[in-house]
Amino acid sequence: MRQINHAEAVHRARVLISQMTLTEKSGQISQAFAAPFMPPLDDAVAAGRLGSLLFVSDPARINHYQRLAVEQSRLGIPLLFGFDVIHGLRTIFPVPLGLAASFDPDLVEQAQAAAAAEARASGIHWAFAPMVDIARDPRWGRIVEGAGEDPHLGSVMAAAQVRGLQGPELGTPGRIIAGPKHFLGYGAAPGGRDYEPVSLSDAEIRNVYLPPFVAAIRAGAGNIMSAYMDINQQPAVAAKWLLDDLLRGELGFTGFVVSDANGVQNQIAQHFAVDEADAALRALNAGNDMEMAMGPNAFARLPALVEQGQLPMATLDLAVERVLVAKIRMGLFESPFVDEAAAEPVLADPKHRALAQVAAERSLVLLHNQGNCLPLTPGVARRVAVIGPLADSVPDTLGPWVFVPDKRETVTVARGIAEHLAGRATVEVQPGVQLHRMMPSGLEAFGPRLKPWTAAEAEAHFDAAVDAARGADQTILVLGEAQSQSGERASASDLTLPGGQLELLDAVLATGKPVVLVLLAGRPLDISALVPRVPAILMSWYPGTRGGTAVARTLFGDINPGGKLPVTWPRHVGQVPIHYGRSRTHTPDRADSLYHDGPSTPLYPFGHGLSYTSFQIEPPVLDKAVLIPGEHVAITTRITNIGSHSGDEVVQLYVHQRAGRAMRPARELKAFQRVSLEPGESREVRFVIDTEMLSYWHSGERRVLLDPGQFDLWIGTDAHADLHLTLIVA
Ligand code: NOJ
Repeated sequence: MRQINHAEAVHRARVLISQMTLTEKSGQISQAFAAPFMPPLDDAVAAGRLGSLLFVSDPARINHYQRLAVEQSRLGIPLLFGFDVIHGLRTIFPVPLGLAASFDPDLVEQAQAAAAAEARASGIHWAFAPMVDIARDPRWGRIVEGAGEDPHLGSVMAAAQVRGLQGPELGTPGRIIAGPKHFLGYGAAPGGRDYEPVSLSDAEIRNVYLPPFVAAIRAGAGNIMSAYMDINQQPAVAAKWLLDDLLRGELGFTGFVVSDANGVQNQIAQHFAVDEADAALRALNAGNDMEMAMGPNAFARLPALVEQGQLPMATLDLAVERVLVAKIRMGLFESPFVDEAAAEPVLADPKHRALAQVAAERSLVLLHNQGNCLPLTPGVARRVAVIGPLADSVPDTLGPWVFVPDKRETVTVARGIAEHLAGRATVEVQPGVQLHRMMPSGLEAFGPRLKPWTAAEAEAHFDAAVDAARGADQTILVLGEAQSQSGERASASDLTLPGGQLELLDAVLATGKPVVLVLLAGRPLDISALVPRVPAILMSWYPGTRGGTAVARTLFGDINPGGKLPVTWPRHVGQVPIHYGRSRTHTPDRADSLYHDGPSTPLYPFGHGLSYTSFQIEPPVLDKAVLIPGEHVAITTRITNIGSHSGDEVVQLYVHQRAGRAMRPARELKAFQRVSLEPGESREVRFVIDTEMLSYWHSGERRVLLDPGQFDLWIGTDAHADLHLTLIVA
């Protein structure tokens, strides 16, 4: 199929707009929730009152709606189908925080390309992804959906995901529109409380929260989703300074902006807009082109507003144009329908499953490994107990934002271990305890609900788990938080292991049998009390369809873990937020003792992750001691695998500006490279430092600038990197 460029699409859109009625125009920019349990939308589609649907993933249902749009609506404009393709459709990859832990943007691009292929083959045209919100507070449940705390890592991962989902340009066959979200600042939820109003300084907006969006837009993202919450006392959905002035004016975004679900209507509940018409007017005027709604669309009020002279036709037309351009560039007018028979082979593609396994393997982070307790040798323990509420739970292996996976083929940790040890050991699996949310969330309707155990059942399960540990030569505990305890509306006020898991751990440890711990969670948890008692801890995030295979291969040494933390890991909830990129105080020597009642250092720094082998990094060298603005310098080091396993290390470059017109973070990640080395092998790693890397947004001067002077550079393997050099910027 021929690619249609932007200018040609605009021309075609304008021709269509000239034929549209007001109702068709407002319909074109209205999106409705088409879940099977919602009232049917057939009439609205056939009448041209909807331009897009969300939440349909079945090709036959997509074609059903598409036929109504194309064959029955007056102008035959096809529908655009959007879906939350966050970390896969049927093949589920690790959650985005886990993908970020791979520090491997090529892999992340491939994973999202596979997700896009499955979505497109199903008839989906657009992903509400990637979520590129910087998140620095693990109490916020949606930290799981992004790349963590760091603007540089976040930007690299944002661009990789856009390239994967969308391909080199909008309309690439087999790919879908990428919709980075949520513009802007959603991740700064105070106290981690989802949806709460956010206050961000201009400097934080520009230097922390914006960079991943800039990277996503540079990678060509065709859509942006505006955010729900209020930012600096105005709902983000109504912030013209954000959506129009900054996003379009300054960043040059040319795609379409969609509101978050019900975000337009929400302005009434937020006590910002008076009524639906006011809400619609404010959202459109601010720069949203499409309204995502889970119920009635406020945008249905737009025609009356035009007729009453409150809304210029040109404003409405521009939004319609941006939506039509996306449809035209996606080739929907030429080929609106999906080949239903062709979907299944793509959804079942074994290459996607193999990629999911590699992605899971590369996302695992070995937090702790006292006395090289891991890897275990298969067959040494003849009786293995796999214990914990997450050990054999399919949803908790997949994580949040998963709607149509093939559950039967999901490999849980217990199943992965049993398959790995088949013929070499017996494996007993016991959940021990059950995990439930204390506060219900409407979103649980999308997932399976556990039938709560009776008190007698709970006691029997607990005892069975402890007995299994007692009878085993090796216990593998699989603890953490359940799928429903992570994600949207899953803020947590306590980061310790929920729901009786600590009691289970105590009882299992009391058996005196060897134990290792696999953590499944969407955020760093408070494991301070566990670390001295459990010799090995493998952070596995929610590892996806092939997660259990990846975990088993890692525990038993077929895979050497090389993932790194994309977030600083606090000791306990009292330390959060505790991201590494804070600025210095006037007492920098006391940075580790800012609390009177305990250390102010994290449990593990950003970038941390152990390996079964050891690496040596040579002191780096600069090719020039002075950076002339507009030019670049190179920093080079050599890394050697000095251990006896092949393995991966992530070499990281951090910078700090000593003095200037603003206080800059004590450290900032600016480049990284994941390298794989055989025992004894060594490799040169080279990073190019340019002016853009050392520049920042200055709020007073309202521009990006570069301060001359001295910069510190560190090379190492986490945010505590200590191989130091200085660079002068002329
Ligand atoms: C609300 C979420 O905030 C957003 O990220 C998601 O894409 C929409 N719901 C649709 O499910």
